[in-house]
Amino acid sequence: MCGIIGAVGCGDATLEVILEGLATLEYRGYDSAGVALGGASLDVEKQSGELDVLRDSISAGGSVPDGSIGLGHTRWSTHGPPTDANAHPHTDESGDVAVVHNGIIENYQTLRDGLQDDGVSFASETDTEVVPHLIARGLADGLAPEAAFRDAVDRIEGSYAIAAVIAGTERVFAARHDSPLVLGIGEGATYLGSDVPAFLEHTRDVVYLDDDEFAVLSLDGWRVTDAAGEVVKKEVTTVNWSAEQTGKSGYAHFMLKEIHEQPTALRQGLSGRLDELAGQVTVDELDGLETPTTVQFVACGTSYHAAMFGVETLRTAGIPAQTFLASEYATGPPPIGNETLVVGVTQSGETADTLSALREASARGAETLALTNVVDSTAARECDHVLYIRSGPEIGVAATKTFSSQLVALTLFSAALVDQRGEESRERVAALRALPSDLQYVLDESRTADVVDAYLDSAAYFFIGRGPNYPVALEGALKFKEITYEHAEGFAAGELKHGTLALVTGETPVFAVVTGDDERARKTIGNVKEVEARDAPVIAVTDGVAGVEQYADHVLEIPNTHPQTAPVLANAQLQLVAYHMANRLGRSIDKPRNLAKSVTVE
Ligand code: F6R
Repeated sequence: MCGIIGAVGCGDATLEVILEGLATLEYRGYDSAGVALGGASLDVEKQSGELDVLRDSISAGGSVPDGSIGLGHTRWSTHGPPTDANAHPHTDESGDVAVVHNGIIENYQTLRDGLQDDGVSFASETDTEVVPHLIARGLADGLAPEAAFRDAVDRIEGSYAIAAVIAGTERVFAARHDSPLVLGIGEGATYLGSDVPAFLEHTRDVVYLDDDEFAVLSLDGWRVTDAAGEVVKKEVTTVNWSAEQTGKSGYAHFMLKEIHEQPTALRQGLSGRLDELAGQVTVDELDGLETPTTVQFVACGTSYHAAMFGVETLRTAGIPAQTFLASEYATGPPPIGNETLVVGVTQSGETADTLSALREASARGAETLALTNVVDSTAARECDHVLYIRSGPEIGVAATKTFSSQLVALTLFSAALVDQRGEESRERVAALRALPSDLQYVLDESRTADVVDAYLDSAAYFFIGRGPNYPVALEGALKFKEITYEHAEGFAAGELKHGTLALVTGETPVFAVVTGDDERARKTIGNVKEVEARDAPVIAVTDGVAGVEQYADHVLEIPNTHPQTAPVLANAQLQLVAYHMANRLGRSIDKPRNLAKSVTVE
């Protein structure tokens, strides 16, 4: 999830407008930054590290980029580590075309191979670099600049918000597909951003681009066209955000913003990894990995819950797996078999307990894999293999979108390890493909804000689920206690009656996750009846298939989907439950007391 800004018509202030815009976008990524300023020729400056490193290098180098047309980028690596060469903007060989991009170009390798066969040399390892070379080739073939840009964009597949400047054109060209892009309409100047805060200091009038639209920003104004090249009449909206809301794109908290970013995060995580024609999952990163005989997961907190889900999906795939709390594994590791793979599930890739467990496993001869969000994090560097979840940076201390991305990555991981054939594989691929829009539906329609009001003063809160919904129950409870500071516990639904049922009363709401129409669902309904008989209010999170509604005081609905994707949807409802309850209670949602985003001590 990178950040993009563009500006036309700011005259001498262009560089400062771009750098200031990038500062507001750093939450989208901060492993490298760069600018391209243009007029008759282009000046490009880029550096690995945070934005200040770029600022310092511009001031120290004395060669201040100059021009009245500008682009800027702050990067969150997906292809290639965060080096100077991999920083955006990327240019063609002549340096006359500069491109910034957010998203993933799925067919970049084929395009890169074709360009290299034609003698084009590449300066970076990124997927993005194919675009300036394609534009340059179009220009060399006689296409006008706008046509060359459109031609290049037409050739790429995947998700993108993309912008280009071409020397001598005084214009910024942009396009989007599955990645956000918005125009800012100022007095005599026009802006482009991945997000409104990028230019909010200069204008509050914005135009949101829709998928497959193109925009051209020039000194005369702006124009939006559709995929066929027809002009689209766009509505200009005025944004009225407070200064406090600005960095959060209008949301009251980063956590809420990140909950709502989940459909985009999942699209990124799935991009290039689903072969719909064959009904199969393809994960290039796992190419060198032999199917292990057993898998041991090591993880902490929310990532531990994701790992529990991983055990369940591997079990379904026929691979025996276990999960261990990383803090326990490091000091008392279990026996490691000949072909055991040890997988560290860690959003940050820096959690000390997880790193220790991985190092212990490695020292004992196990092959290791990091499932992480952060490119080049310690876990990514130290493990034999790495699978990136591609969520984009998460600022709220409570993990939300990274948990959903971990569940999806673990589903891909399990599928990729086994021979995938037939109807079952096709159904899973179809469900994964539909997951981002199903999740969008849940977020748009959720009634959690109303439901929590009924339970504000409860004595304690319980969360139950079975099978893949058991980790969702645990995660629902963890999120709830983390940000509401209220007592909450998650249980395997069948376990409640072995002790904790003694605590269940009319004062303890029970959130029951019940999906599908199988034995597990039927048994969970039995457990729901047990708590109902003790007067506990029941809030069912359900796809409506099992028929739990008749025993519930409230229902939080999710669409009916595959058993491996339903937990992602159910979890989103529970994230919103925790969020709205904490909000009603006036808690410090983004920075809960006593907690840190990355725990680097054991
Ligand atoms: C809870 C939360 C933590 C982390 C845990 C592991 O919302 O975020 O429980 O999941 O500290 O962190 P990572 O995944 O970075 O290893």
